[in-house]
Amino acid sequence: MSQQNSKTSLDLPWKLRLFIYILSAVSDASRRSNVTINRRLFNLFDLKSPPSNKPTNGVTTSDITVDASRNLWFRLYTPAASASTSVDNVVKFPVIVFFHGGGFAFLRANSKPYDDFCQRLARELPAVVISVDYRLSPEHKHPKQYEDGIDTLRFLDSVSFERLCPPCADLKRCFLAGDSAGANIAHHVSLLANDYDFRTLNLTGLISIQPFFGGEERTESELSLAGAPVISIERTDWTWKAFLPEGSDRDHPSVNVFGPNSADISGMKFPATIVFVGGFDPLQDWQKRYYLGLKKSGKEACLIEYPNAFHTFYAFPEVPESSLFIKEVRNFMQAQSPK
Ligand SMILES: *[C@@H]1O[C@H](CO)[C@@H](O)[C@H](O)[C@H]1NC(C)=O
Ligand SMILES: *[C@@H]1O[C@H](CO)[C@@H](O)[C@H](O)[C@H]1NC(C)=O
Repeated sequence: MSQQNSKTSLDLPWKLRLFIYILSAVSDASRRSNVTINRRLFNLFDLKSPPSNKPTNGVTTSDITVDASRNLWFRLYTPAASASTSVDNVVKFPVIVFFHGGGFAFLRANSKPYDDFCQRLARELPAVVISVDYRLSPEHKHPKQYEDGIDTLRFLDSVSFERLCPPCADLKRCFLAGDSAGANIAHHVSLLANDYDFRTLNLTGLISIQPFFGGEERTESELSLAGAPVISIERTDWTWKAFLPEGSDRDHPSVNVFGPNSADISGMKFPATIVFVGGFDPLQDWQKRYYLGLKKSGKEACLIEYPNAFHTFYAFPEVPESSLFIKEVRNFMQAQSPK
């Protein structure tokens, strides 16, 4: 075991290590070699949280359907403090459209870890959070996840959403956010948004949390951090295979976004972006290239690196970097908001 890896295992409290171990073991056991998923097995361990119109720690939640024909919906998180202010003097919160991680294949908007995380974002930032339950691979392959993302934005901008939209939600300050595969989706949805003129919605920023990108090349961090929590080459290779259309390799432009097959985005609109990277994440080399690629394309971007953070660190309030992360997101959102 390398010095780095023994340091990670020492740093993690046992409960957290056990949780990560179980979730990894269950997803490994559910992934089949013929690139299908044993959903019945995985769902036994993927506990779901119901929505609640009574405030839980200051946040109310409800589920809203975007398109019933493909079962596309999102969970809406509203900071309850806003309810006490009078109608014509409503405190406005920025809106975060969030895409959960799970390799495009696992977990849902109502999975307990993501429900907890979104509640925390809504309460601690504070913000109105919209957590998108996009379709999962391999049953639904690329680009279905991106389509669900852009269609959700179009729905939020439509008249059908006007009567459902909490008065405290400021769609003029709309941030896209995602972790891992969700951050990959948030990136591609930002590009797709170039094709639309929104009526009220303004894409103000992108919060990219340990984004899942890759390529045919094996980077140094992928090789040297074998044995780090959550991510391994074997797992990511399987995940890309399950996501991509038949016959594609990992230099597909959805995976290797600044690679040999990617398009030049310098002429496209792209929101200001904050990229979070952890020193124990095997994906960090791809994530840093992503940040550099955005800069080279003339986009506003900043990189926040936590040397001791592992993939999915943000989801655990007991990890010190998780609170630093919240603070950093809050500062970023304030800095992007029109005065
Ligand atoms: C994949 O394997 C599982 C279990 O062995 C089997 O039930 C399923 O039909 C297979 N699916 C395909 C598409 O080959
Ligand atoms: C949209 O957000 C940008 C910042 O990203 C800001 O400069 C612009 O004024 C906003 N537009 C509207 C219509 O609010």
